[in-house]
Amino acid sequence: MDKILEISSPGGDLQLQFTLTEEGEPVYWARYKDTAILDTSALGFELVDAPSLRAGFEMTDYSTRALNDVWEMPWGEQREVSNNYNELTVEVREIPPPNRRMRLIFRIYDDGFGFRYEFPEQEGLETLEIAEERTEFQLTGNHTAWWIPGDWDIYEHLYNETSVSGIDALSKRDHPNLAQTAIPVNAVNTPVTMRTANGLHLSFHEAALTDYSGMTLLVDNDTYKLTSNLVGSERTPYKVKRKLPFHTPWRTVQVSPDAAGLIESNLIVNLNEPNQLGDVEWFKPTKYVGIWWEMHLGKSSWDMASGKHGATTENAKRYIDFAAENNIGAVLVEGWNTGWEHWIGFEDREGVFDFVTPYEDYDLEEVVRYANEKGVEMIMHHETSAAPRTYEQQLDTAYALMQRLGIHSVKTGYVGKIIPAGEYHHGQWMVNHYRKVLETAAEYEVAVNAHEPIKATGIRRTFPNAISREGLRGQEFNAWSVEGGNPPDHLPTVAFTRMLAGPIDFTPGIFNMKLAPYKEESQINTTLAHQLALYVVIYSPVQMAADLPEHYEDHPAFEFIREVGVDWEQSKVLNGEVGDYVTIARQERGTDRWFLGSITDEQERSLEASLDFLPAGANYKATIYRDGEGAHWDENPSAFLIESFLVDRSTTLKLDLAPGGGTAVTLEPATAEDEERLQTYR
Ligand code: NOJ
Ligand code: CA
Repeated sequence: MDKILEISSPGGDLQLQFTLTEEGEPVYWARYKDTAILDTSALGFELVDAPSLRAGFEMTDYSTRALNDVWEMPWGEQREVSNNYNELTVEVREIPPPNRRMRLIFRIYDDGFGFRYEFPEQEGLETLEIAEERTEFQLTGNHTAWWIPGDWDIYEHLYNETSVSGIDALSKRDHPNLAQTAIPVNAVNTPVTMRTANGLHLSFHEAALTDYSGMTLLVDNDTYKLTSNLVGSERTPYKVKRKLPFHTPWRTVQVSPDAAGLIESNLIVNLNEPNQLGDVEWFKPTKYVGIWWEMHLGKSSWDMASGKHGATTENAKRYIDFAAENNIGAVLVEGWNTGWEHWIGFEDREGVFDFVTPYEDYDLEEVVRYANEKGVEMIMHHETSAAPRTYEQQLDTAYALMQRLGIHSVKTGYVGKIIPAGEYHHGQWMVNHYRKVLETAAEYEVAVNAHEPIKATGIRRTFPNAISREGLRGQEFNAWSVEGGNPPDHLPTVAFTRMLAGPIDFTPGIFNMKLAPYKEESQINTTLAHQLALYVVIYSPVQMAADLPEHYEDHPAFEFIREVGVDWEQSKVLNGEVGDYVTIARQERGTDRWFLGSITDEQERSLEASLDFLPAGANYKATIYRDGEGAHWDENPSAFLIESFLVDRSTTLKLDLAPGGGTAVTLEPATAEDEERLQTYR
């Protein structure tokens, strides 16, 4: 065995070791304090028509480096991000000819570590055709895991909680309600989060996914070994093709003694390159409403042929009026452009959608003029129906139109199997498409909220016009009576899994939980207060108030949505357990206000939340929106109460959450009148 190189986190709790085995195989392992978190795990690649890069290496050099830096998010969960790591770079070379060389870079932080492979320029090796990456994560036990299957086409599965030995992705094949799905092996998508028997929390993911395939993790149920399994393509013998020099995305492991620490971790964004776009002042975090939920309820439709077209000039103006009256900054209109008669369920979807031509009952220019007059922004919608080549042909024209109209954000969609056949949503070809969209959009000062996207890997740091995305089972599933809707533990799971990757366009805020009279066979499986709390718990710089305006009009709880912030100075995770509950407090940027959200699964709970984050010496008014008497996600979802109290940093709030319930709190400096009128919380 070669010499063992060791690197520790700045605080010293995490340690990673690297060496080459007798066979010259690169391996690493990791410890947290005195506990092994990964046993000997190999690193390497299988190539197409070339010997694999897995063994026969010698170490030619190594070096270390450290960084302790702070950078600013233009928008985000917090303004300042501390970026503090130790780095180890190891150079290895094959002993037998052709003496190929690669470099392994390990970066170790207090909240986890990442590593990547680099291929420097070298003689005789122009391109690499990667058949498979063989990065291993040798777990040290049969941990509890929260996972979705390693679907190459979609992330919209429900999370499963099983032991590692119980992970069975193949049982999730052929889901009847997904527009596309491909689960080739027993692998999981990332982030995948685990809890060890000692209560340590681990989450596996990747950062800076650029010009490469998405990574799923193949699961060995007996040895508890996870091995990278890249998303492939039926059109090429390789899964990834790259010219040298290049490097892979970072393979990441977040480590925390408690579940809350995973959410506070900044590992994923820290492992991305700094902002390349400069000032993105043209994008402002905002709440939005839209002609959207009404389609999913079947009240209206995207297409005109249905006879109940939702995107009419008149209807758009109704939403604009509602937004203007309610402190909602933007309006999304789906179904505004031609092509919707021929999108879902058709094989030939190329050349169908047109991203500049409105339906005849939708006067785009007039809608934009009206919105401007009311001080509301419009959000563009581009459903590609998974025909990315059609979209690419029109990108410049579509964004030029938006620029002329002063529209600075677009929601994109990729429903269906990718055309050309043989490509998958998460393969290298599509990863490059999504990036091209982002880069082209940036040239026109357009921010992108992608649905059916590639997973978030922290690219928002480099391209802050990557504002939000779907990439999970969203609210829409509740309108389709799929599997009875998302269960009450869905979002308490998402907060510790999908949310570790980045912002989520979940579209919260449904008040009419039984969906009457539109979809009486479906329902939202949470209480109303849980829906409110999501504005704080689930982070996104664009947050939809998803329900129909008529369900908000005159509803006292709507006040919370009117008030809640969307851009944060800092965020604190006060408590939580994966899949059970979570409480988060966030301070609004540029004000003294804080907002708190707490949600639970089907269990009723009493939680405590200390307000010690409030500034010293200041009295605050807390407006608490909580589950009312007898509230229950199924039996009585709309029972809620609003109460106001005086609080300060010595206050501990008692949060009583109903089954499937939640609490949302607005905290603002108390006025003289509040001090006189309100009771002190006790
Ligand atoms: C799927 C998206 O997730 C949904 O929000 C949208 O309404 C439809 N595609 C149509 O584009
Ligand atoms: Ca979707």
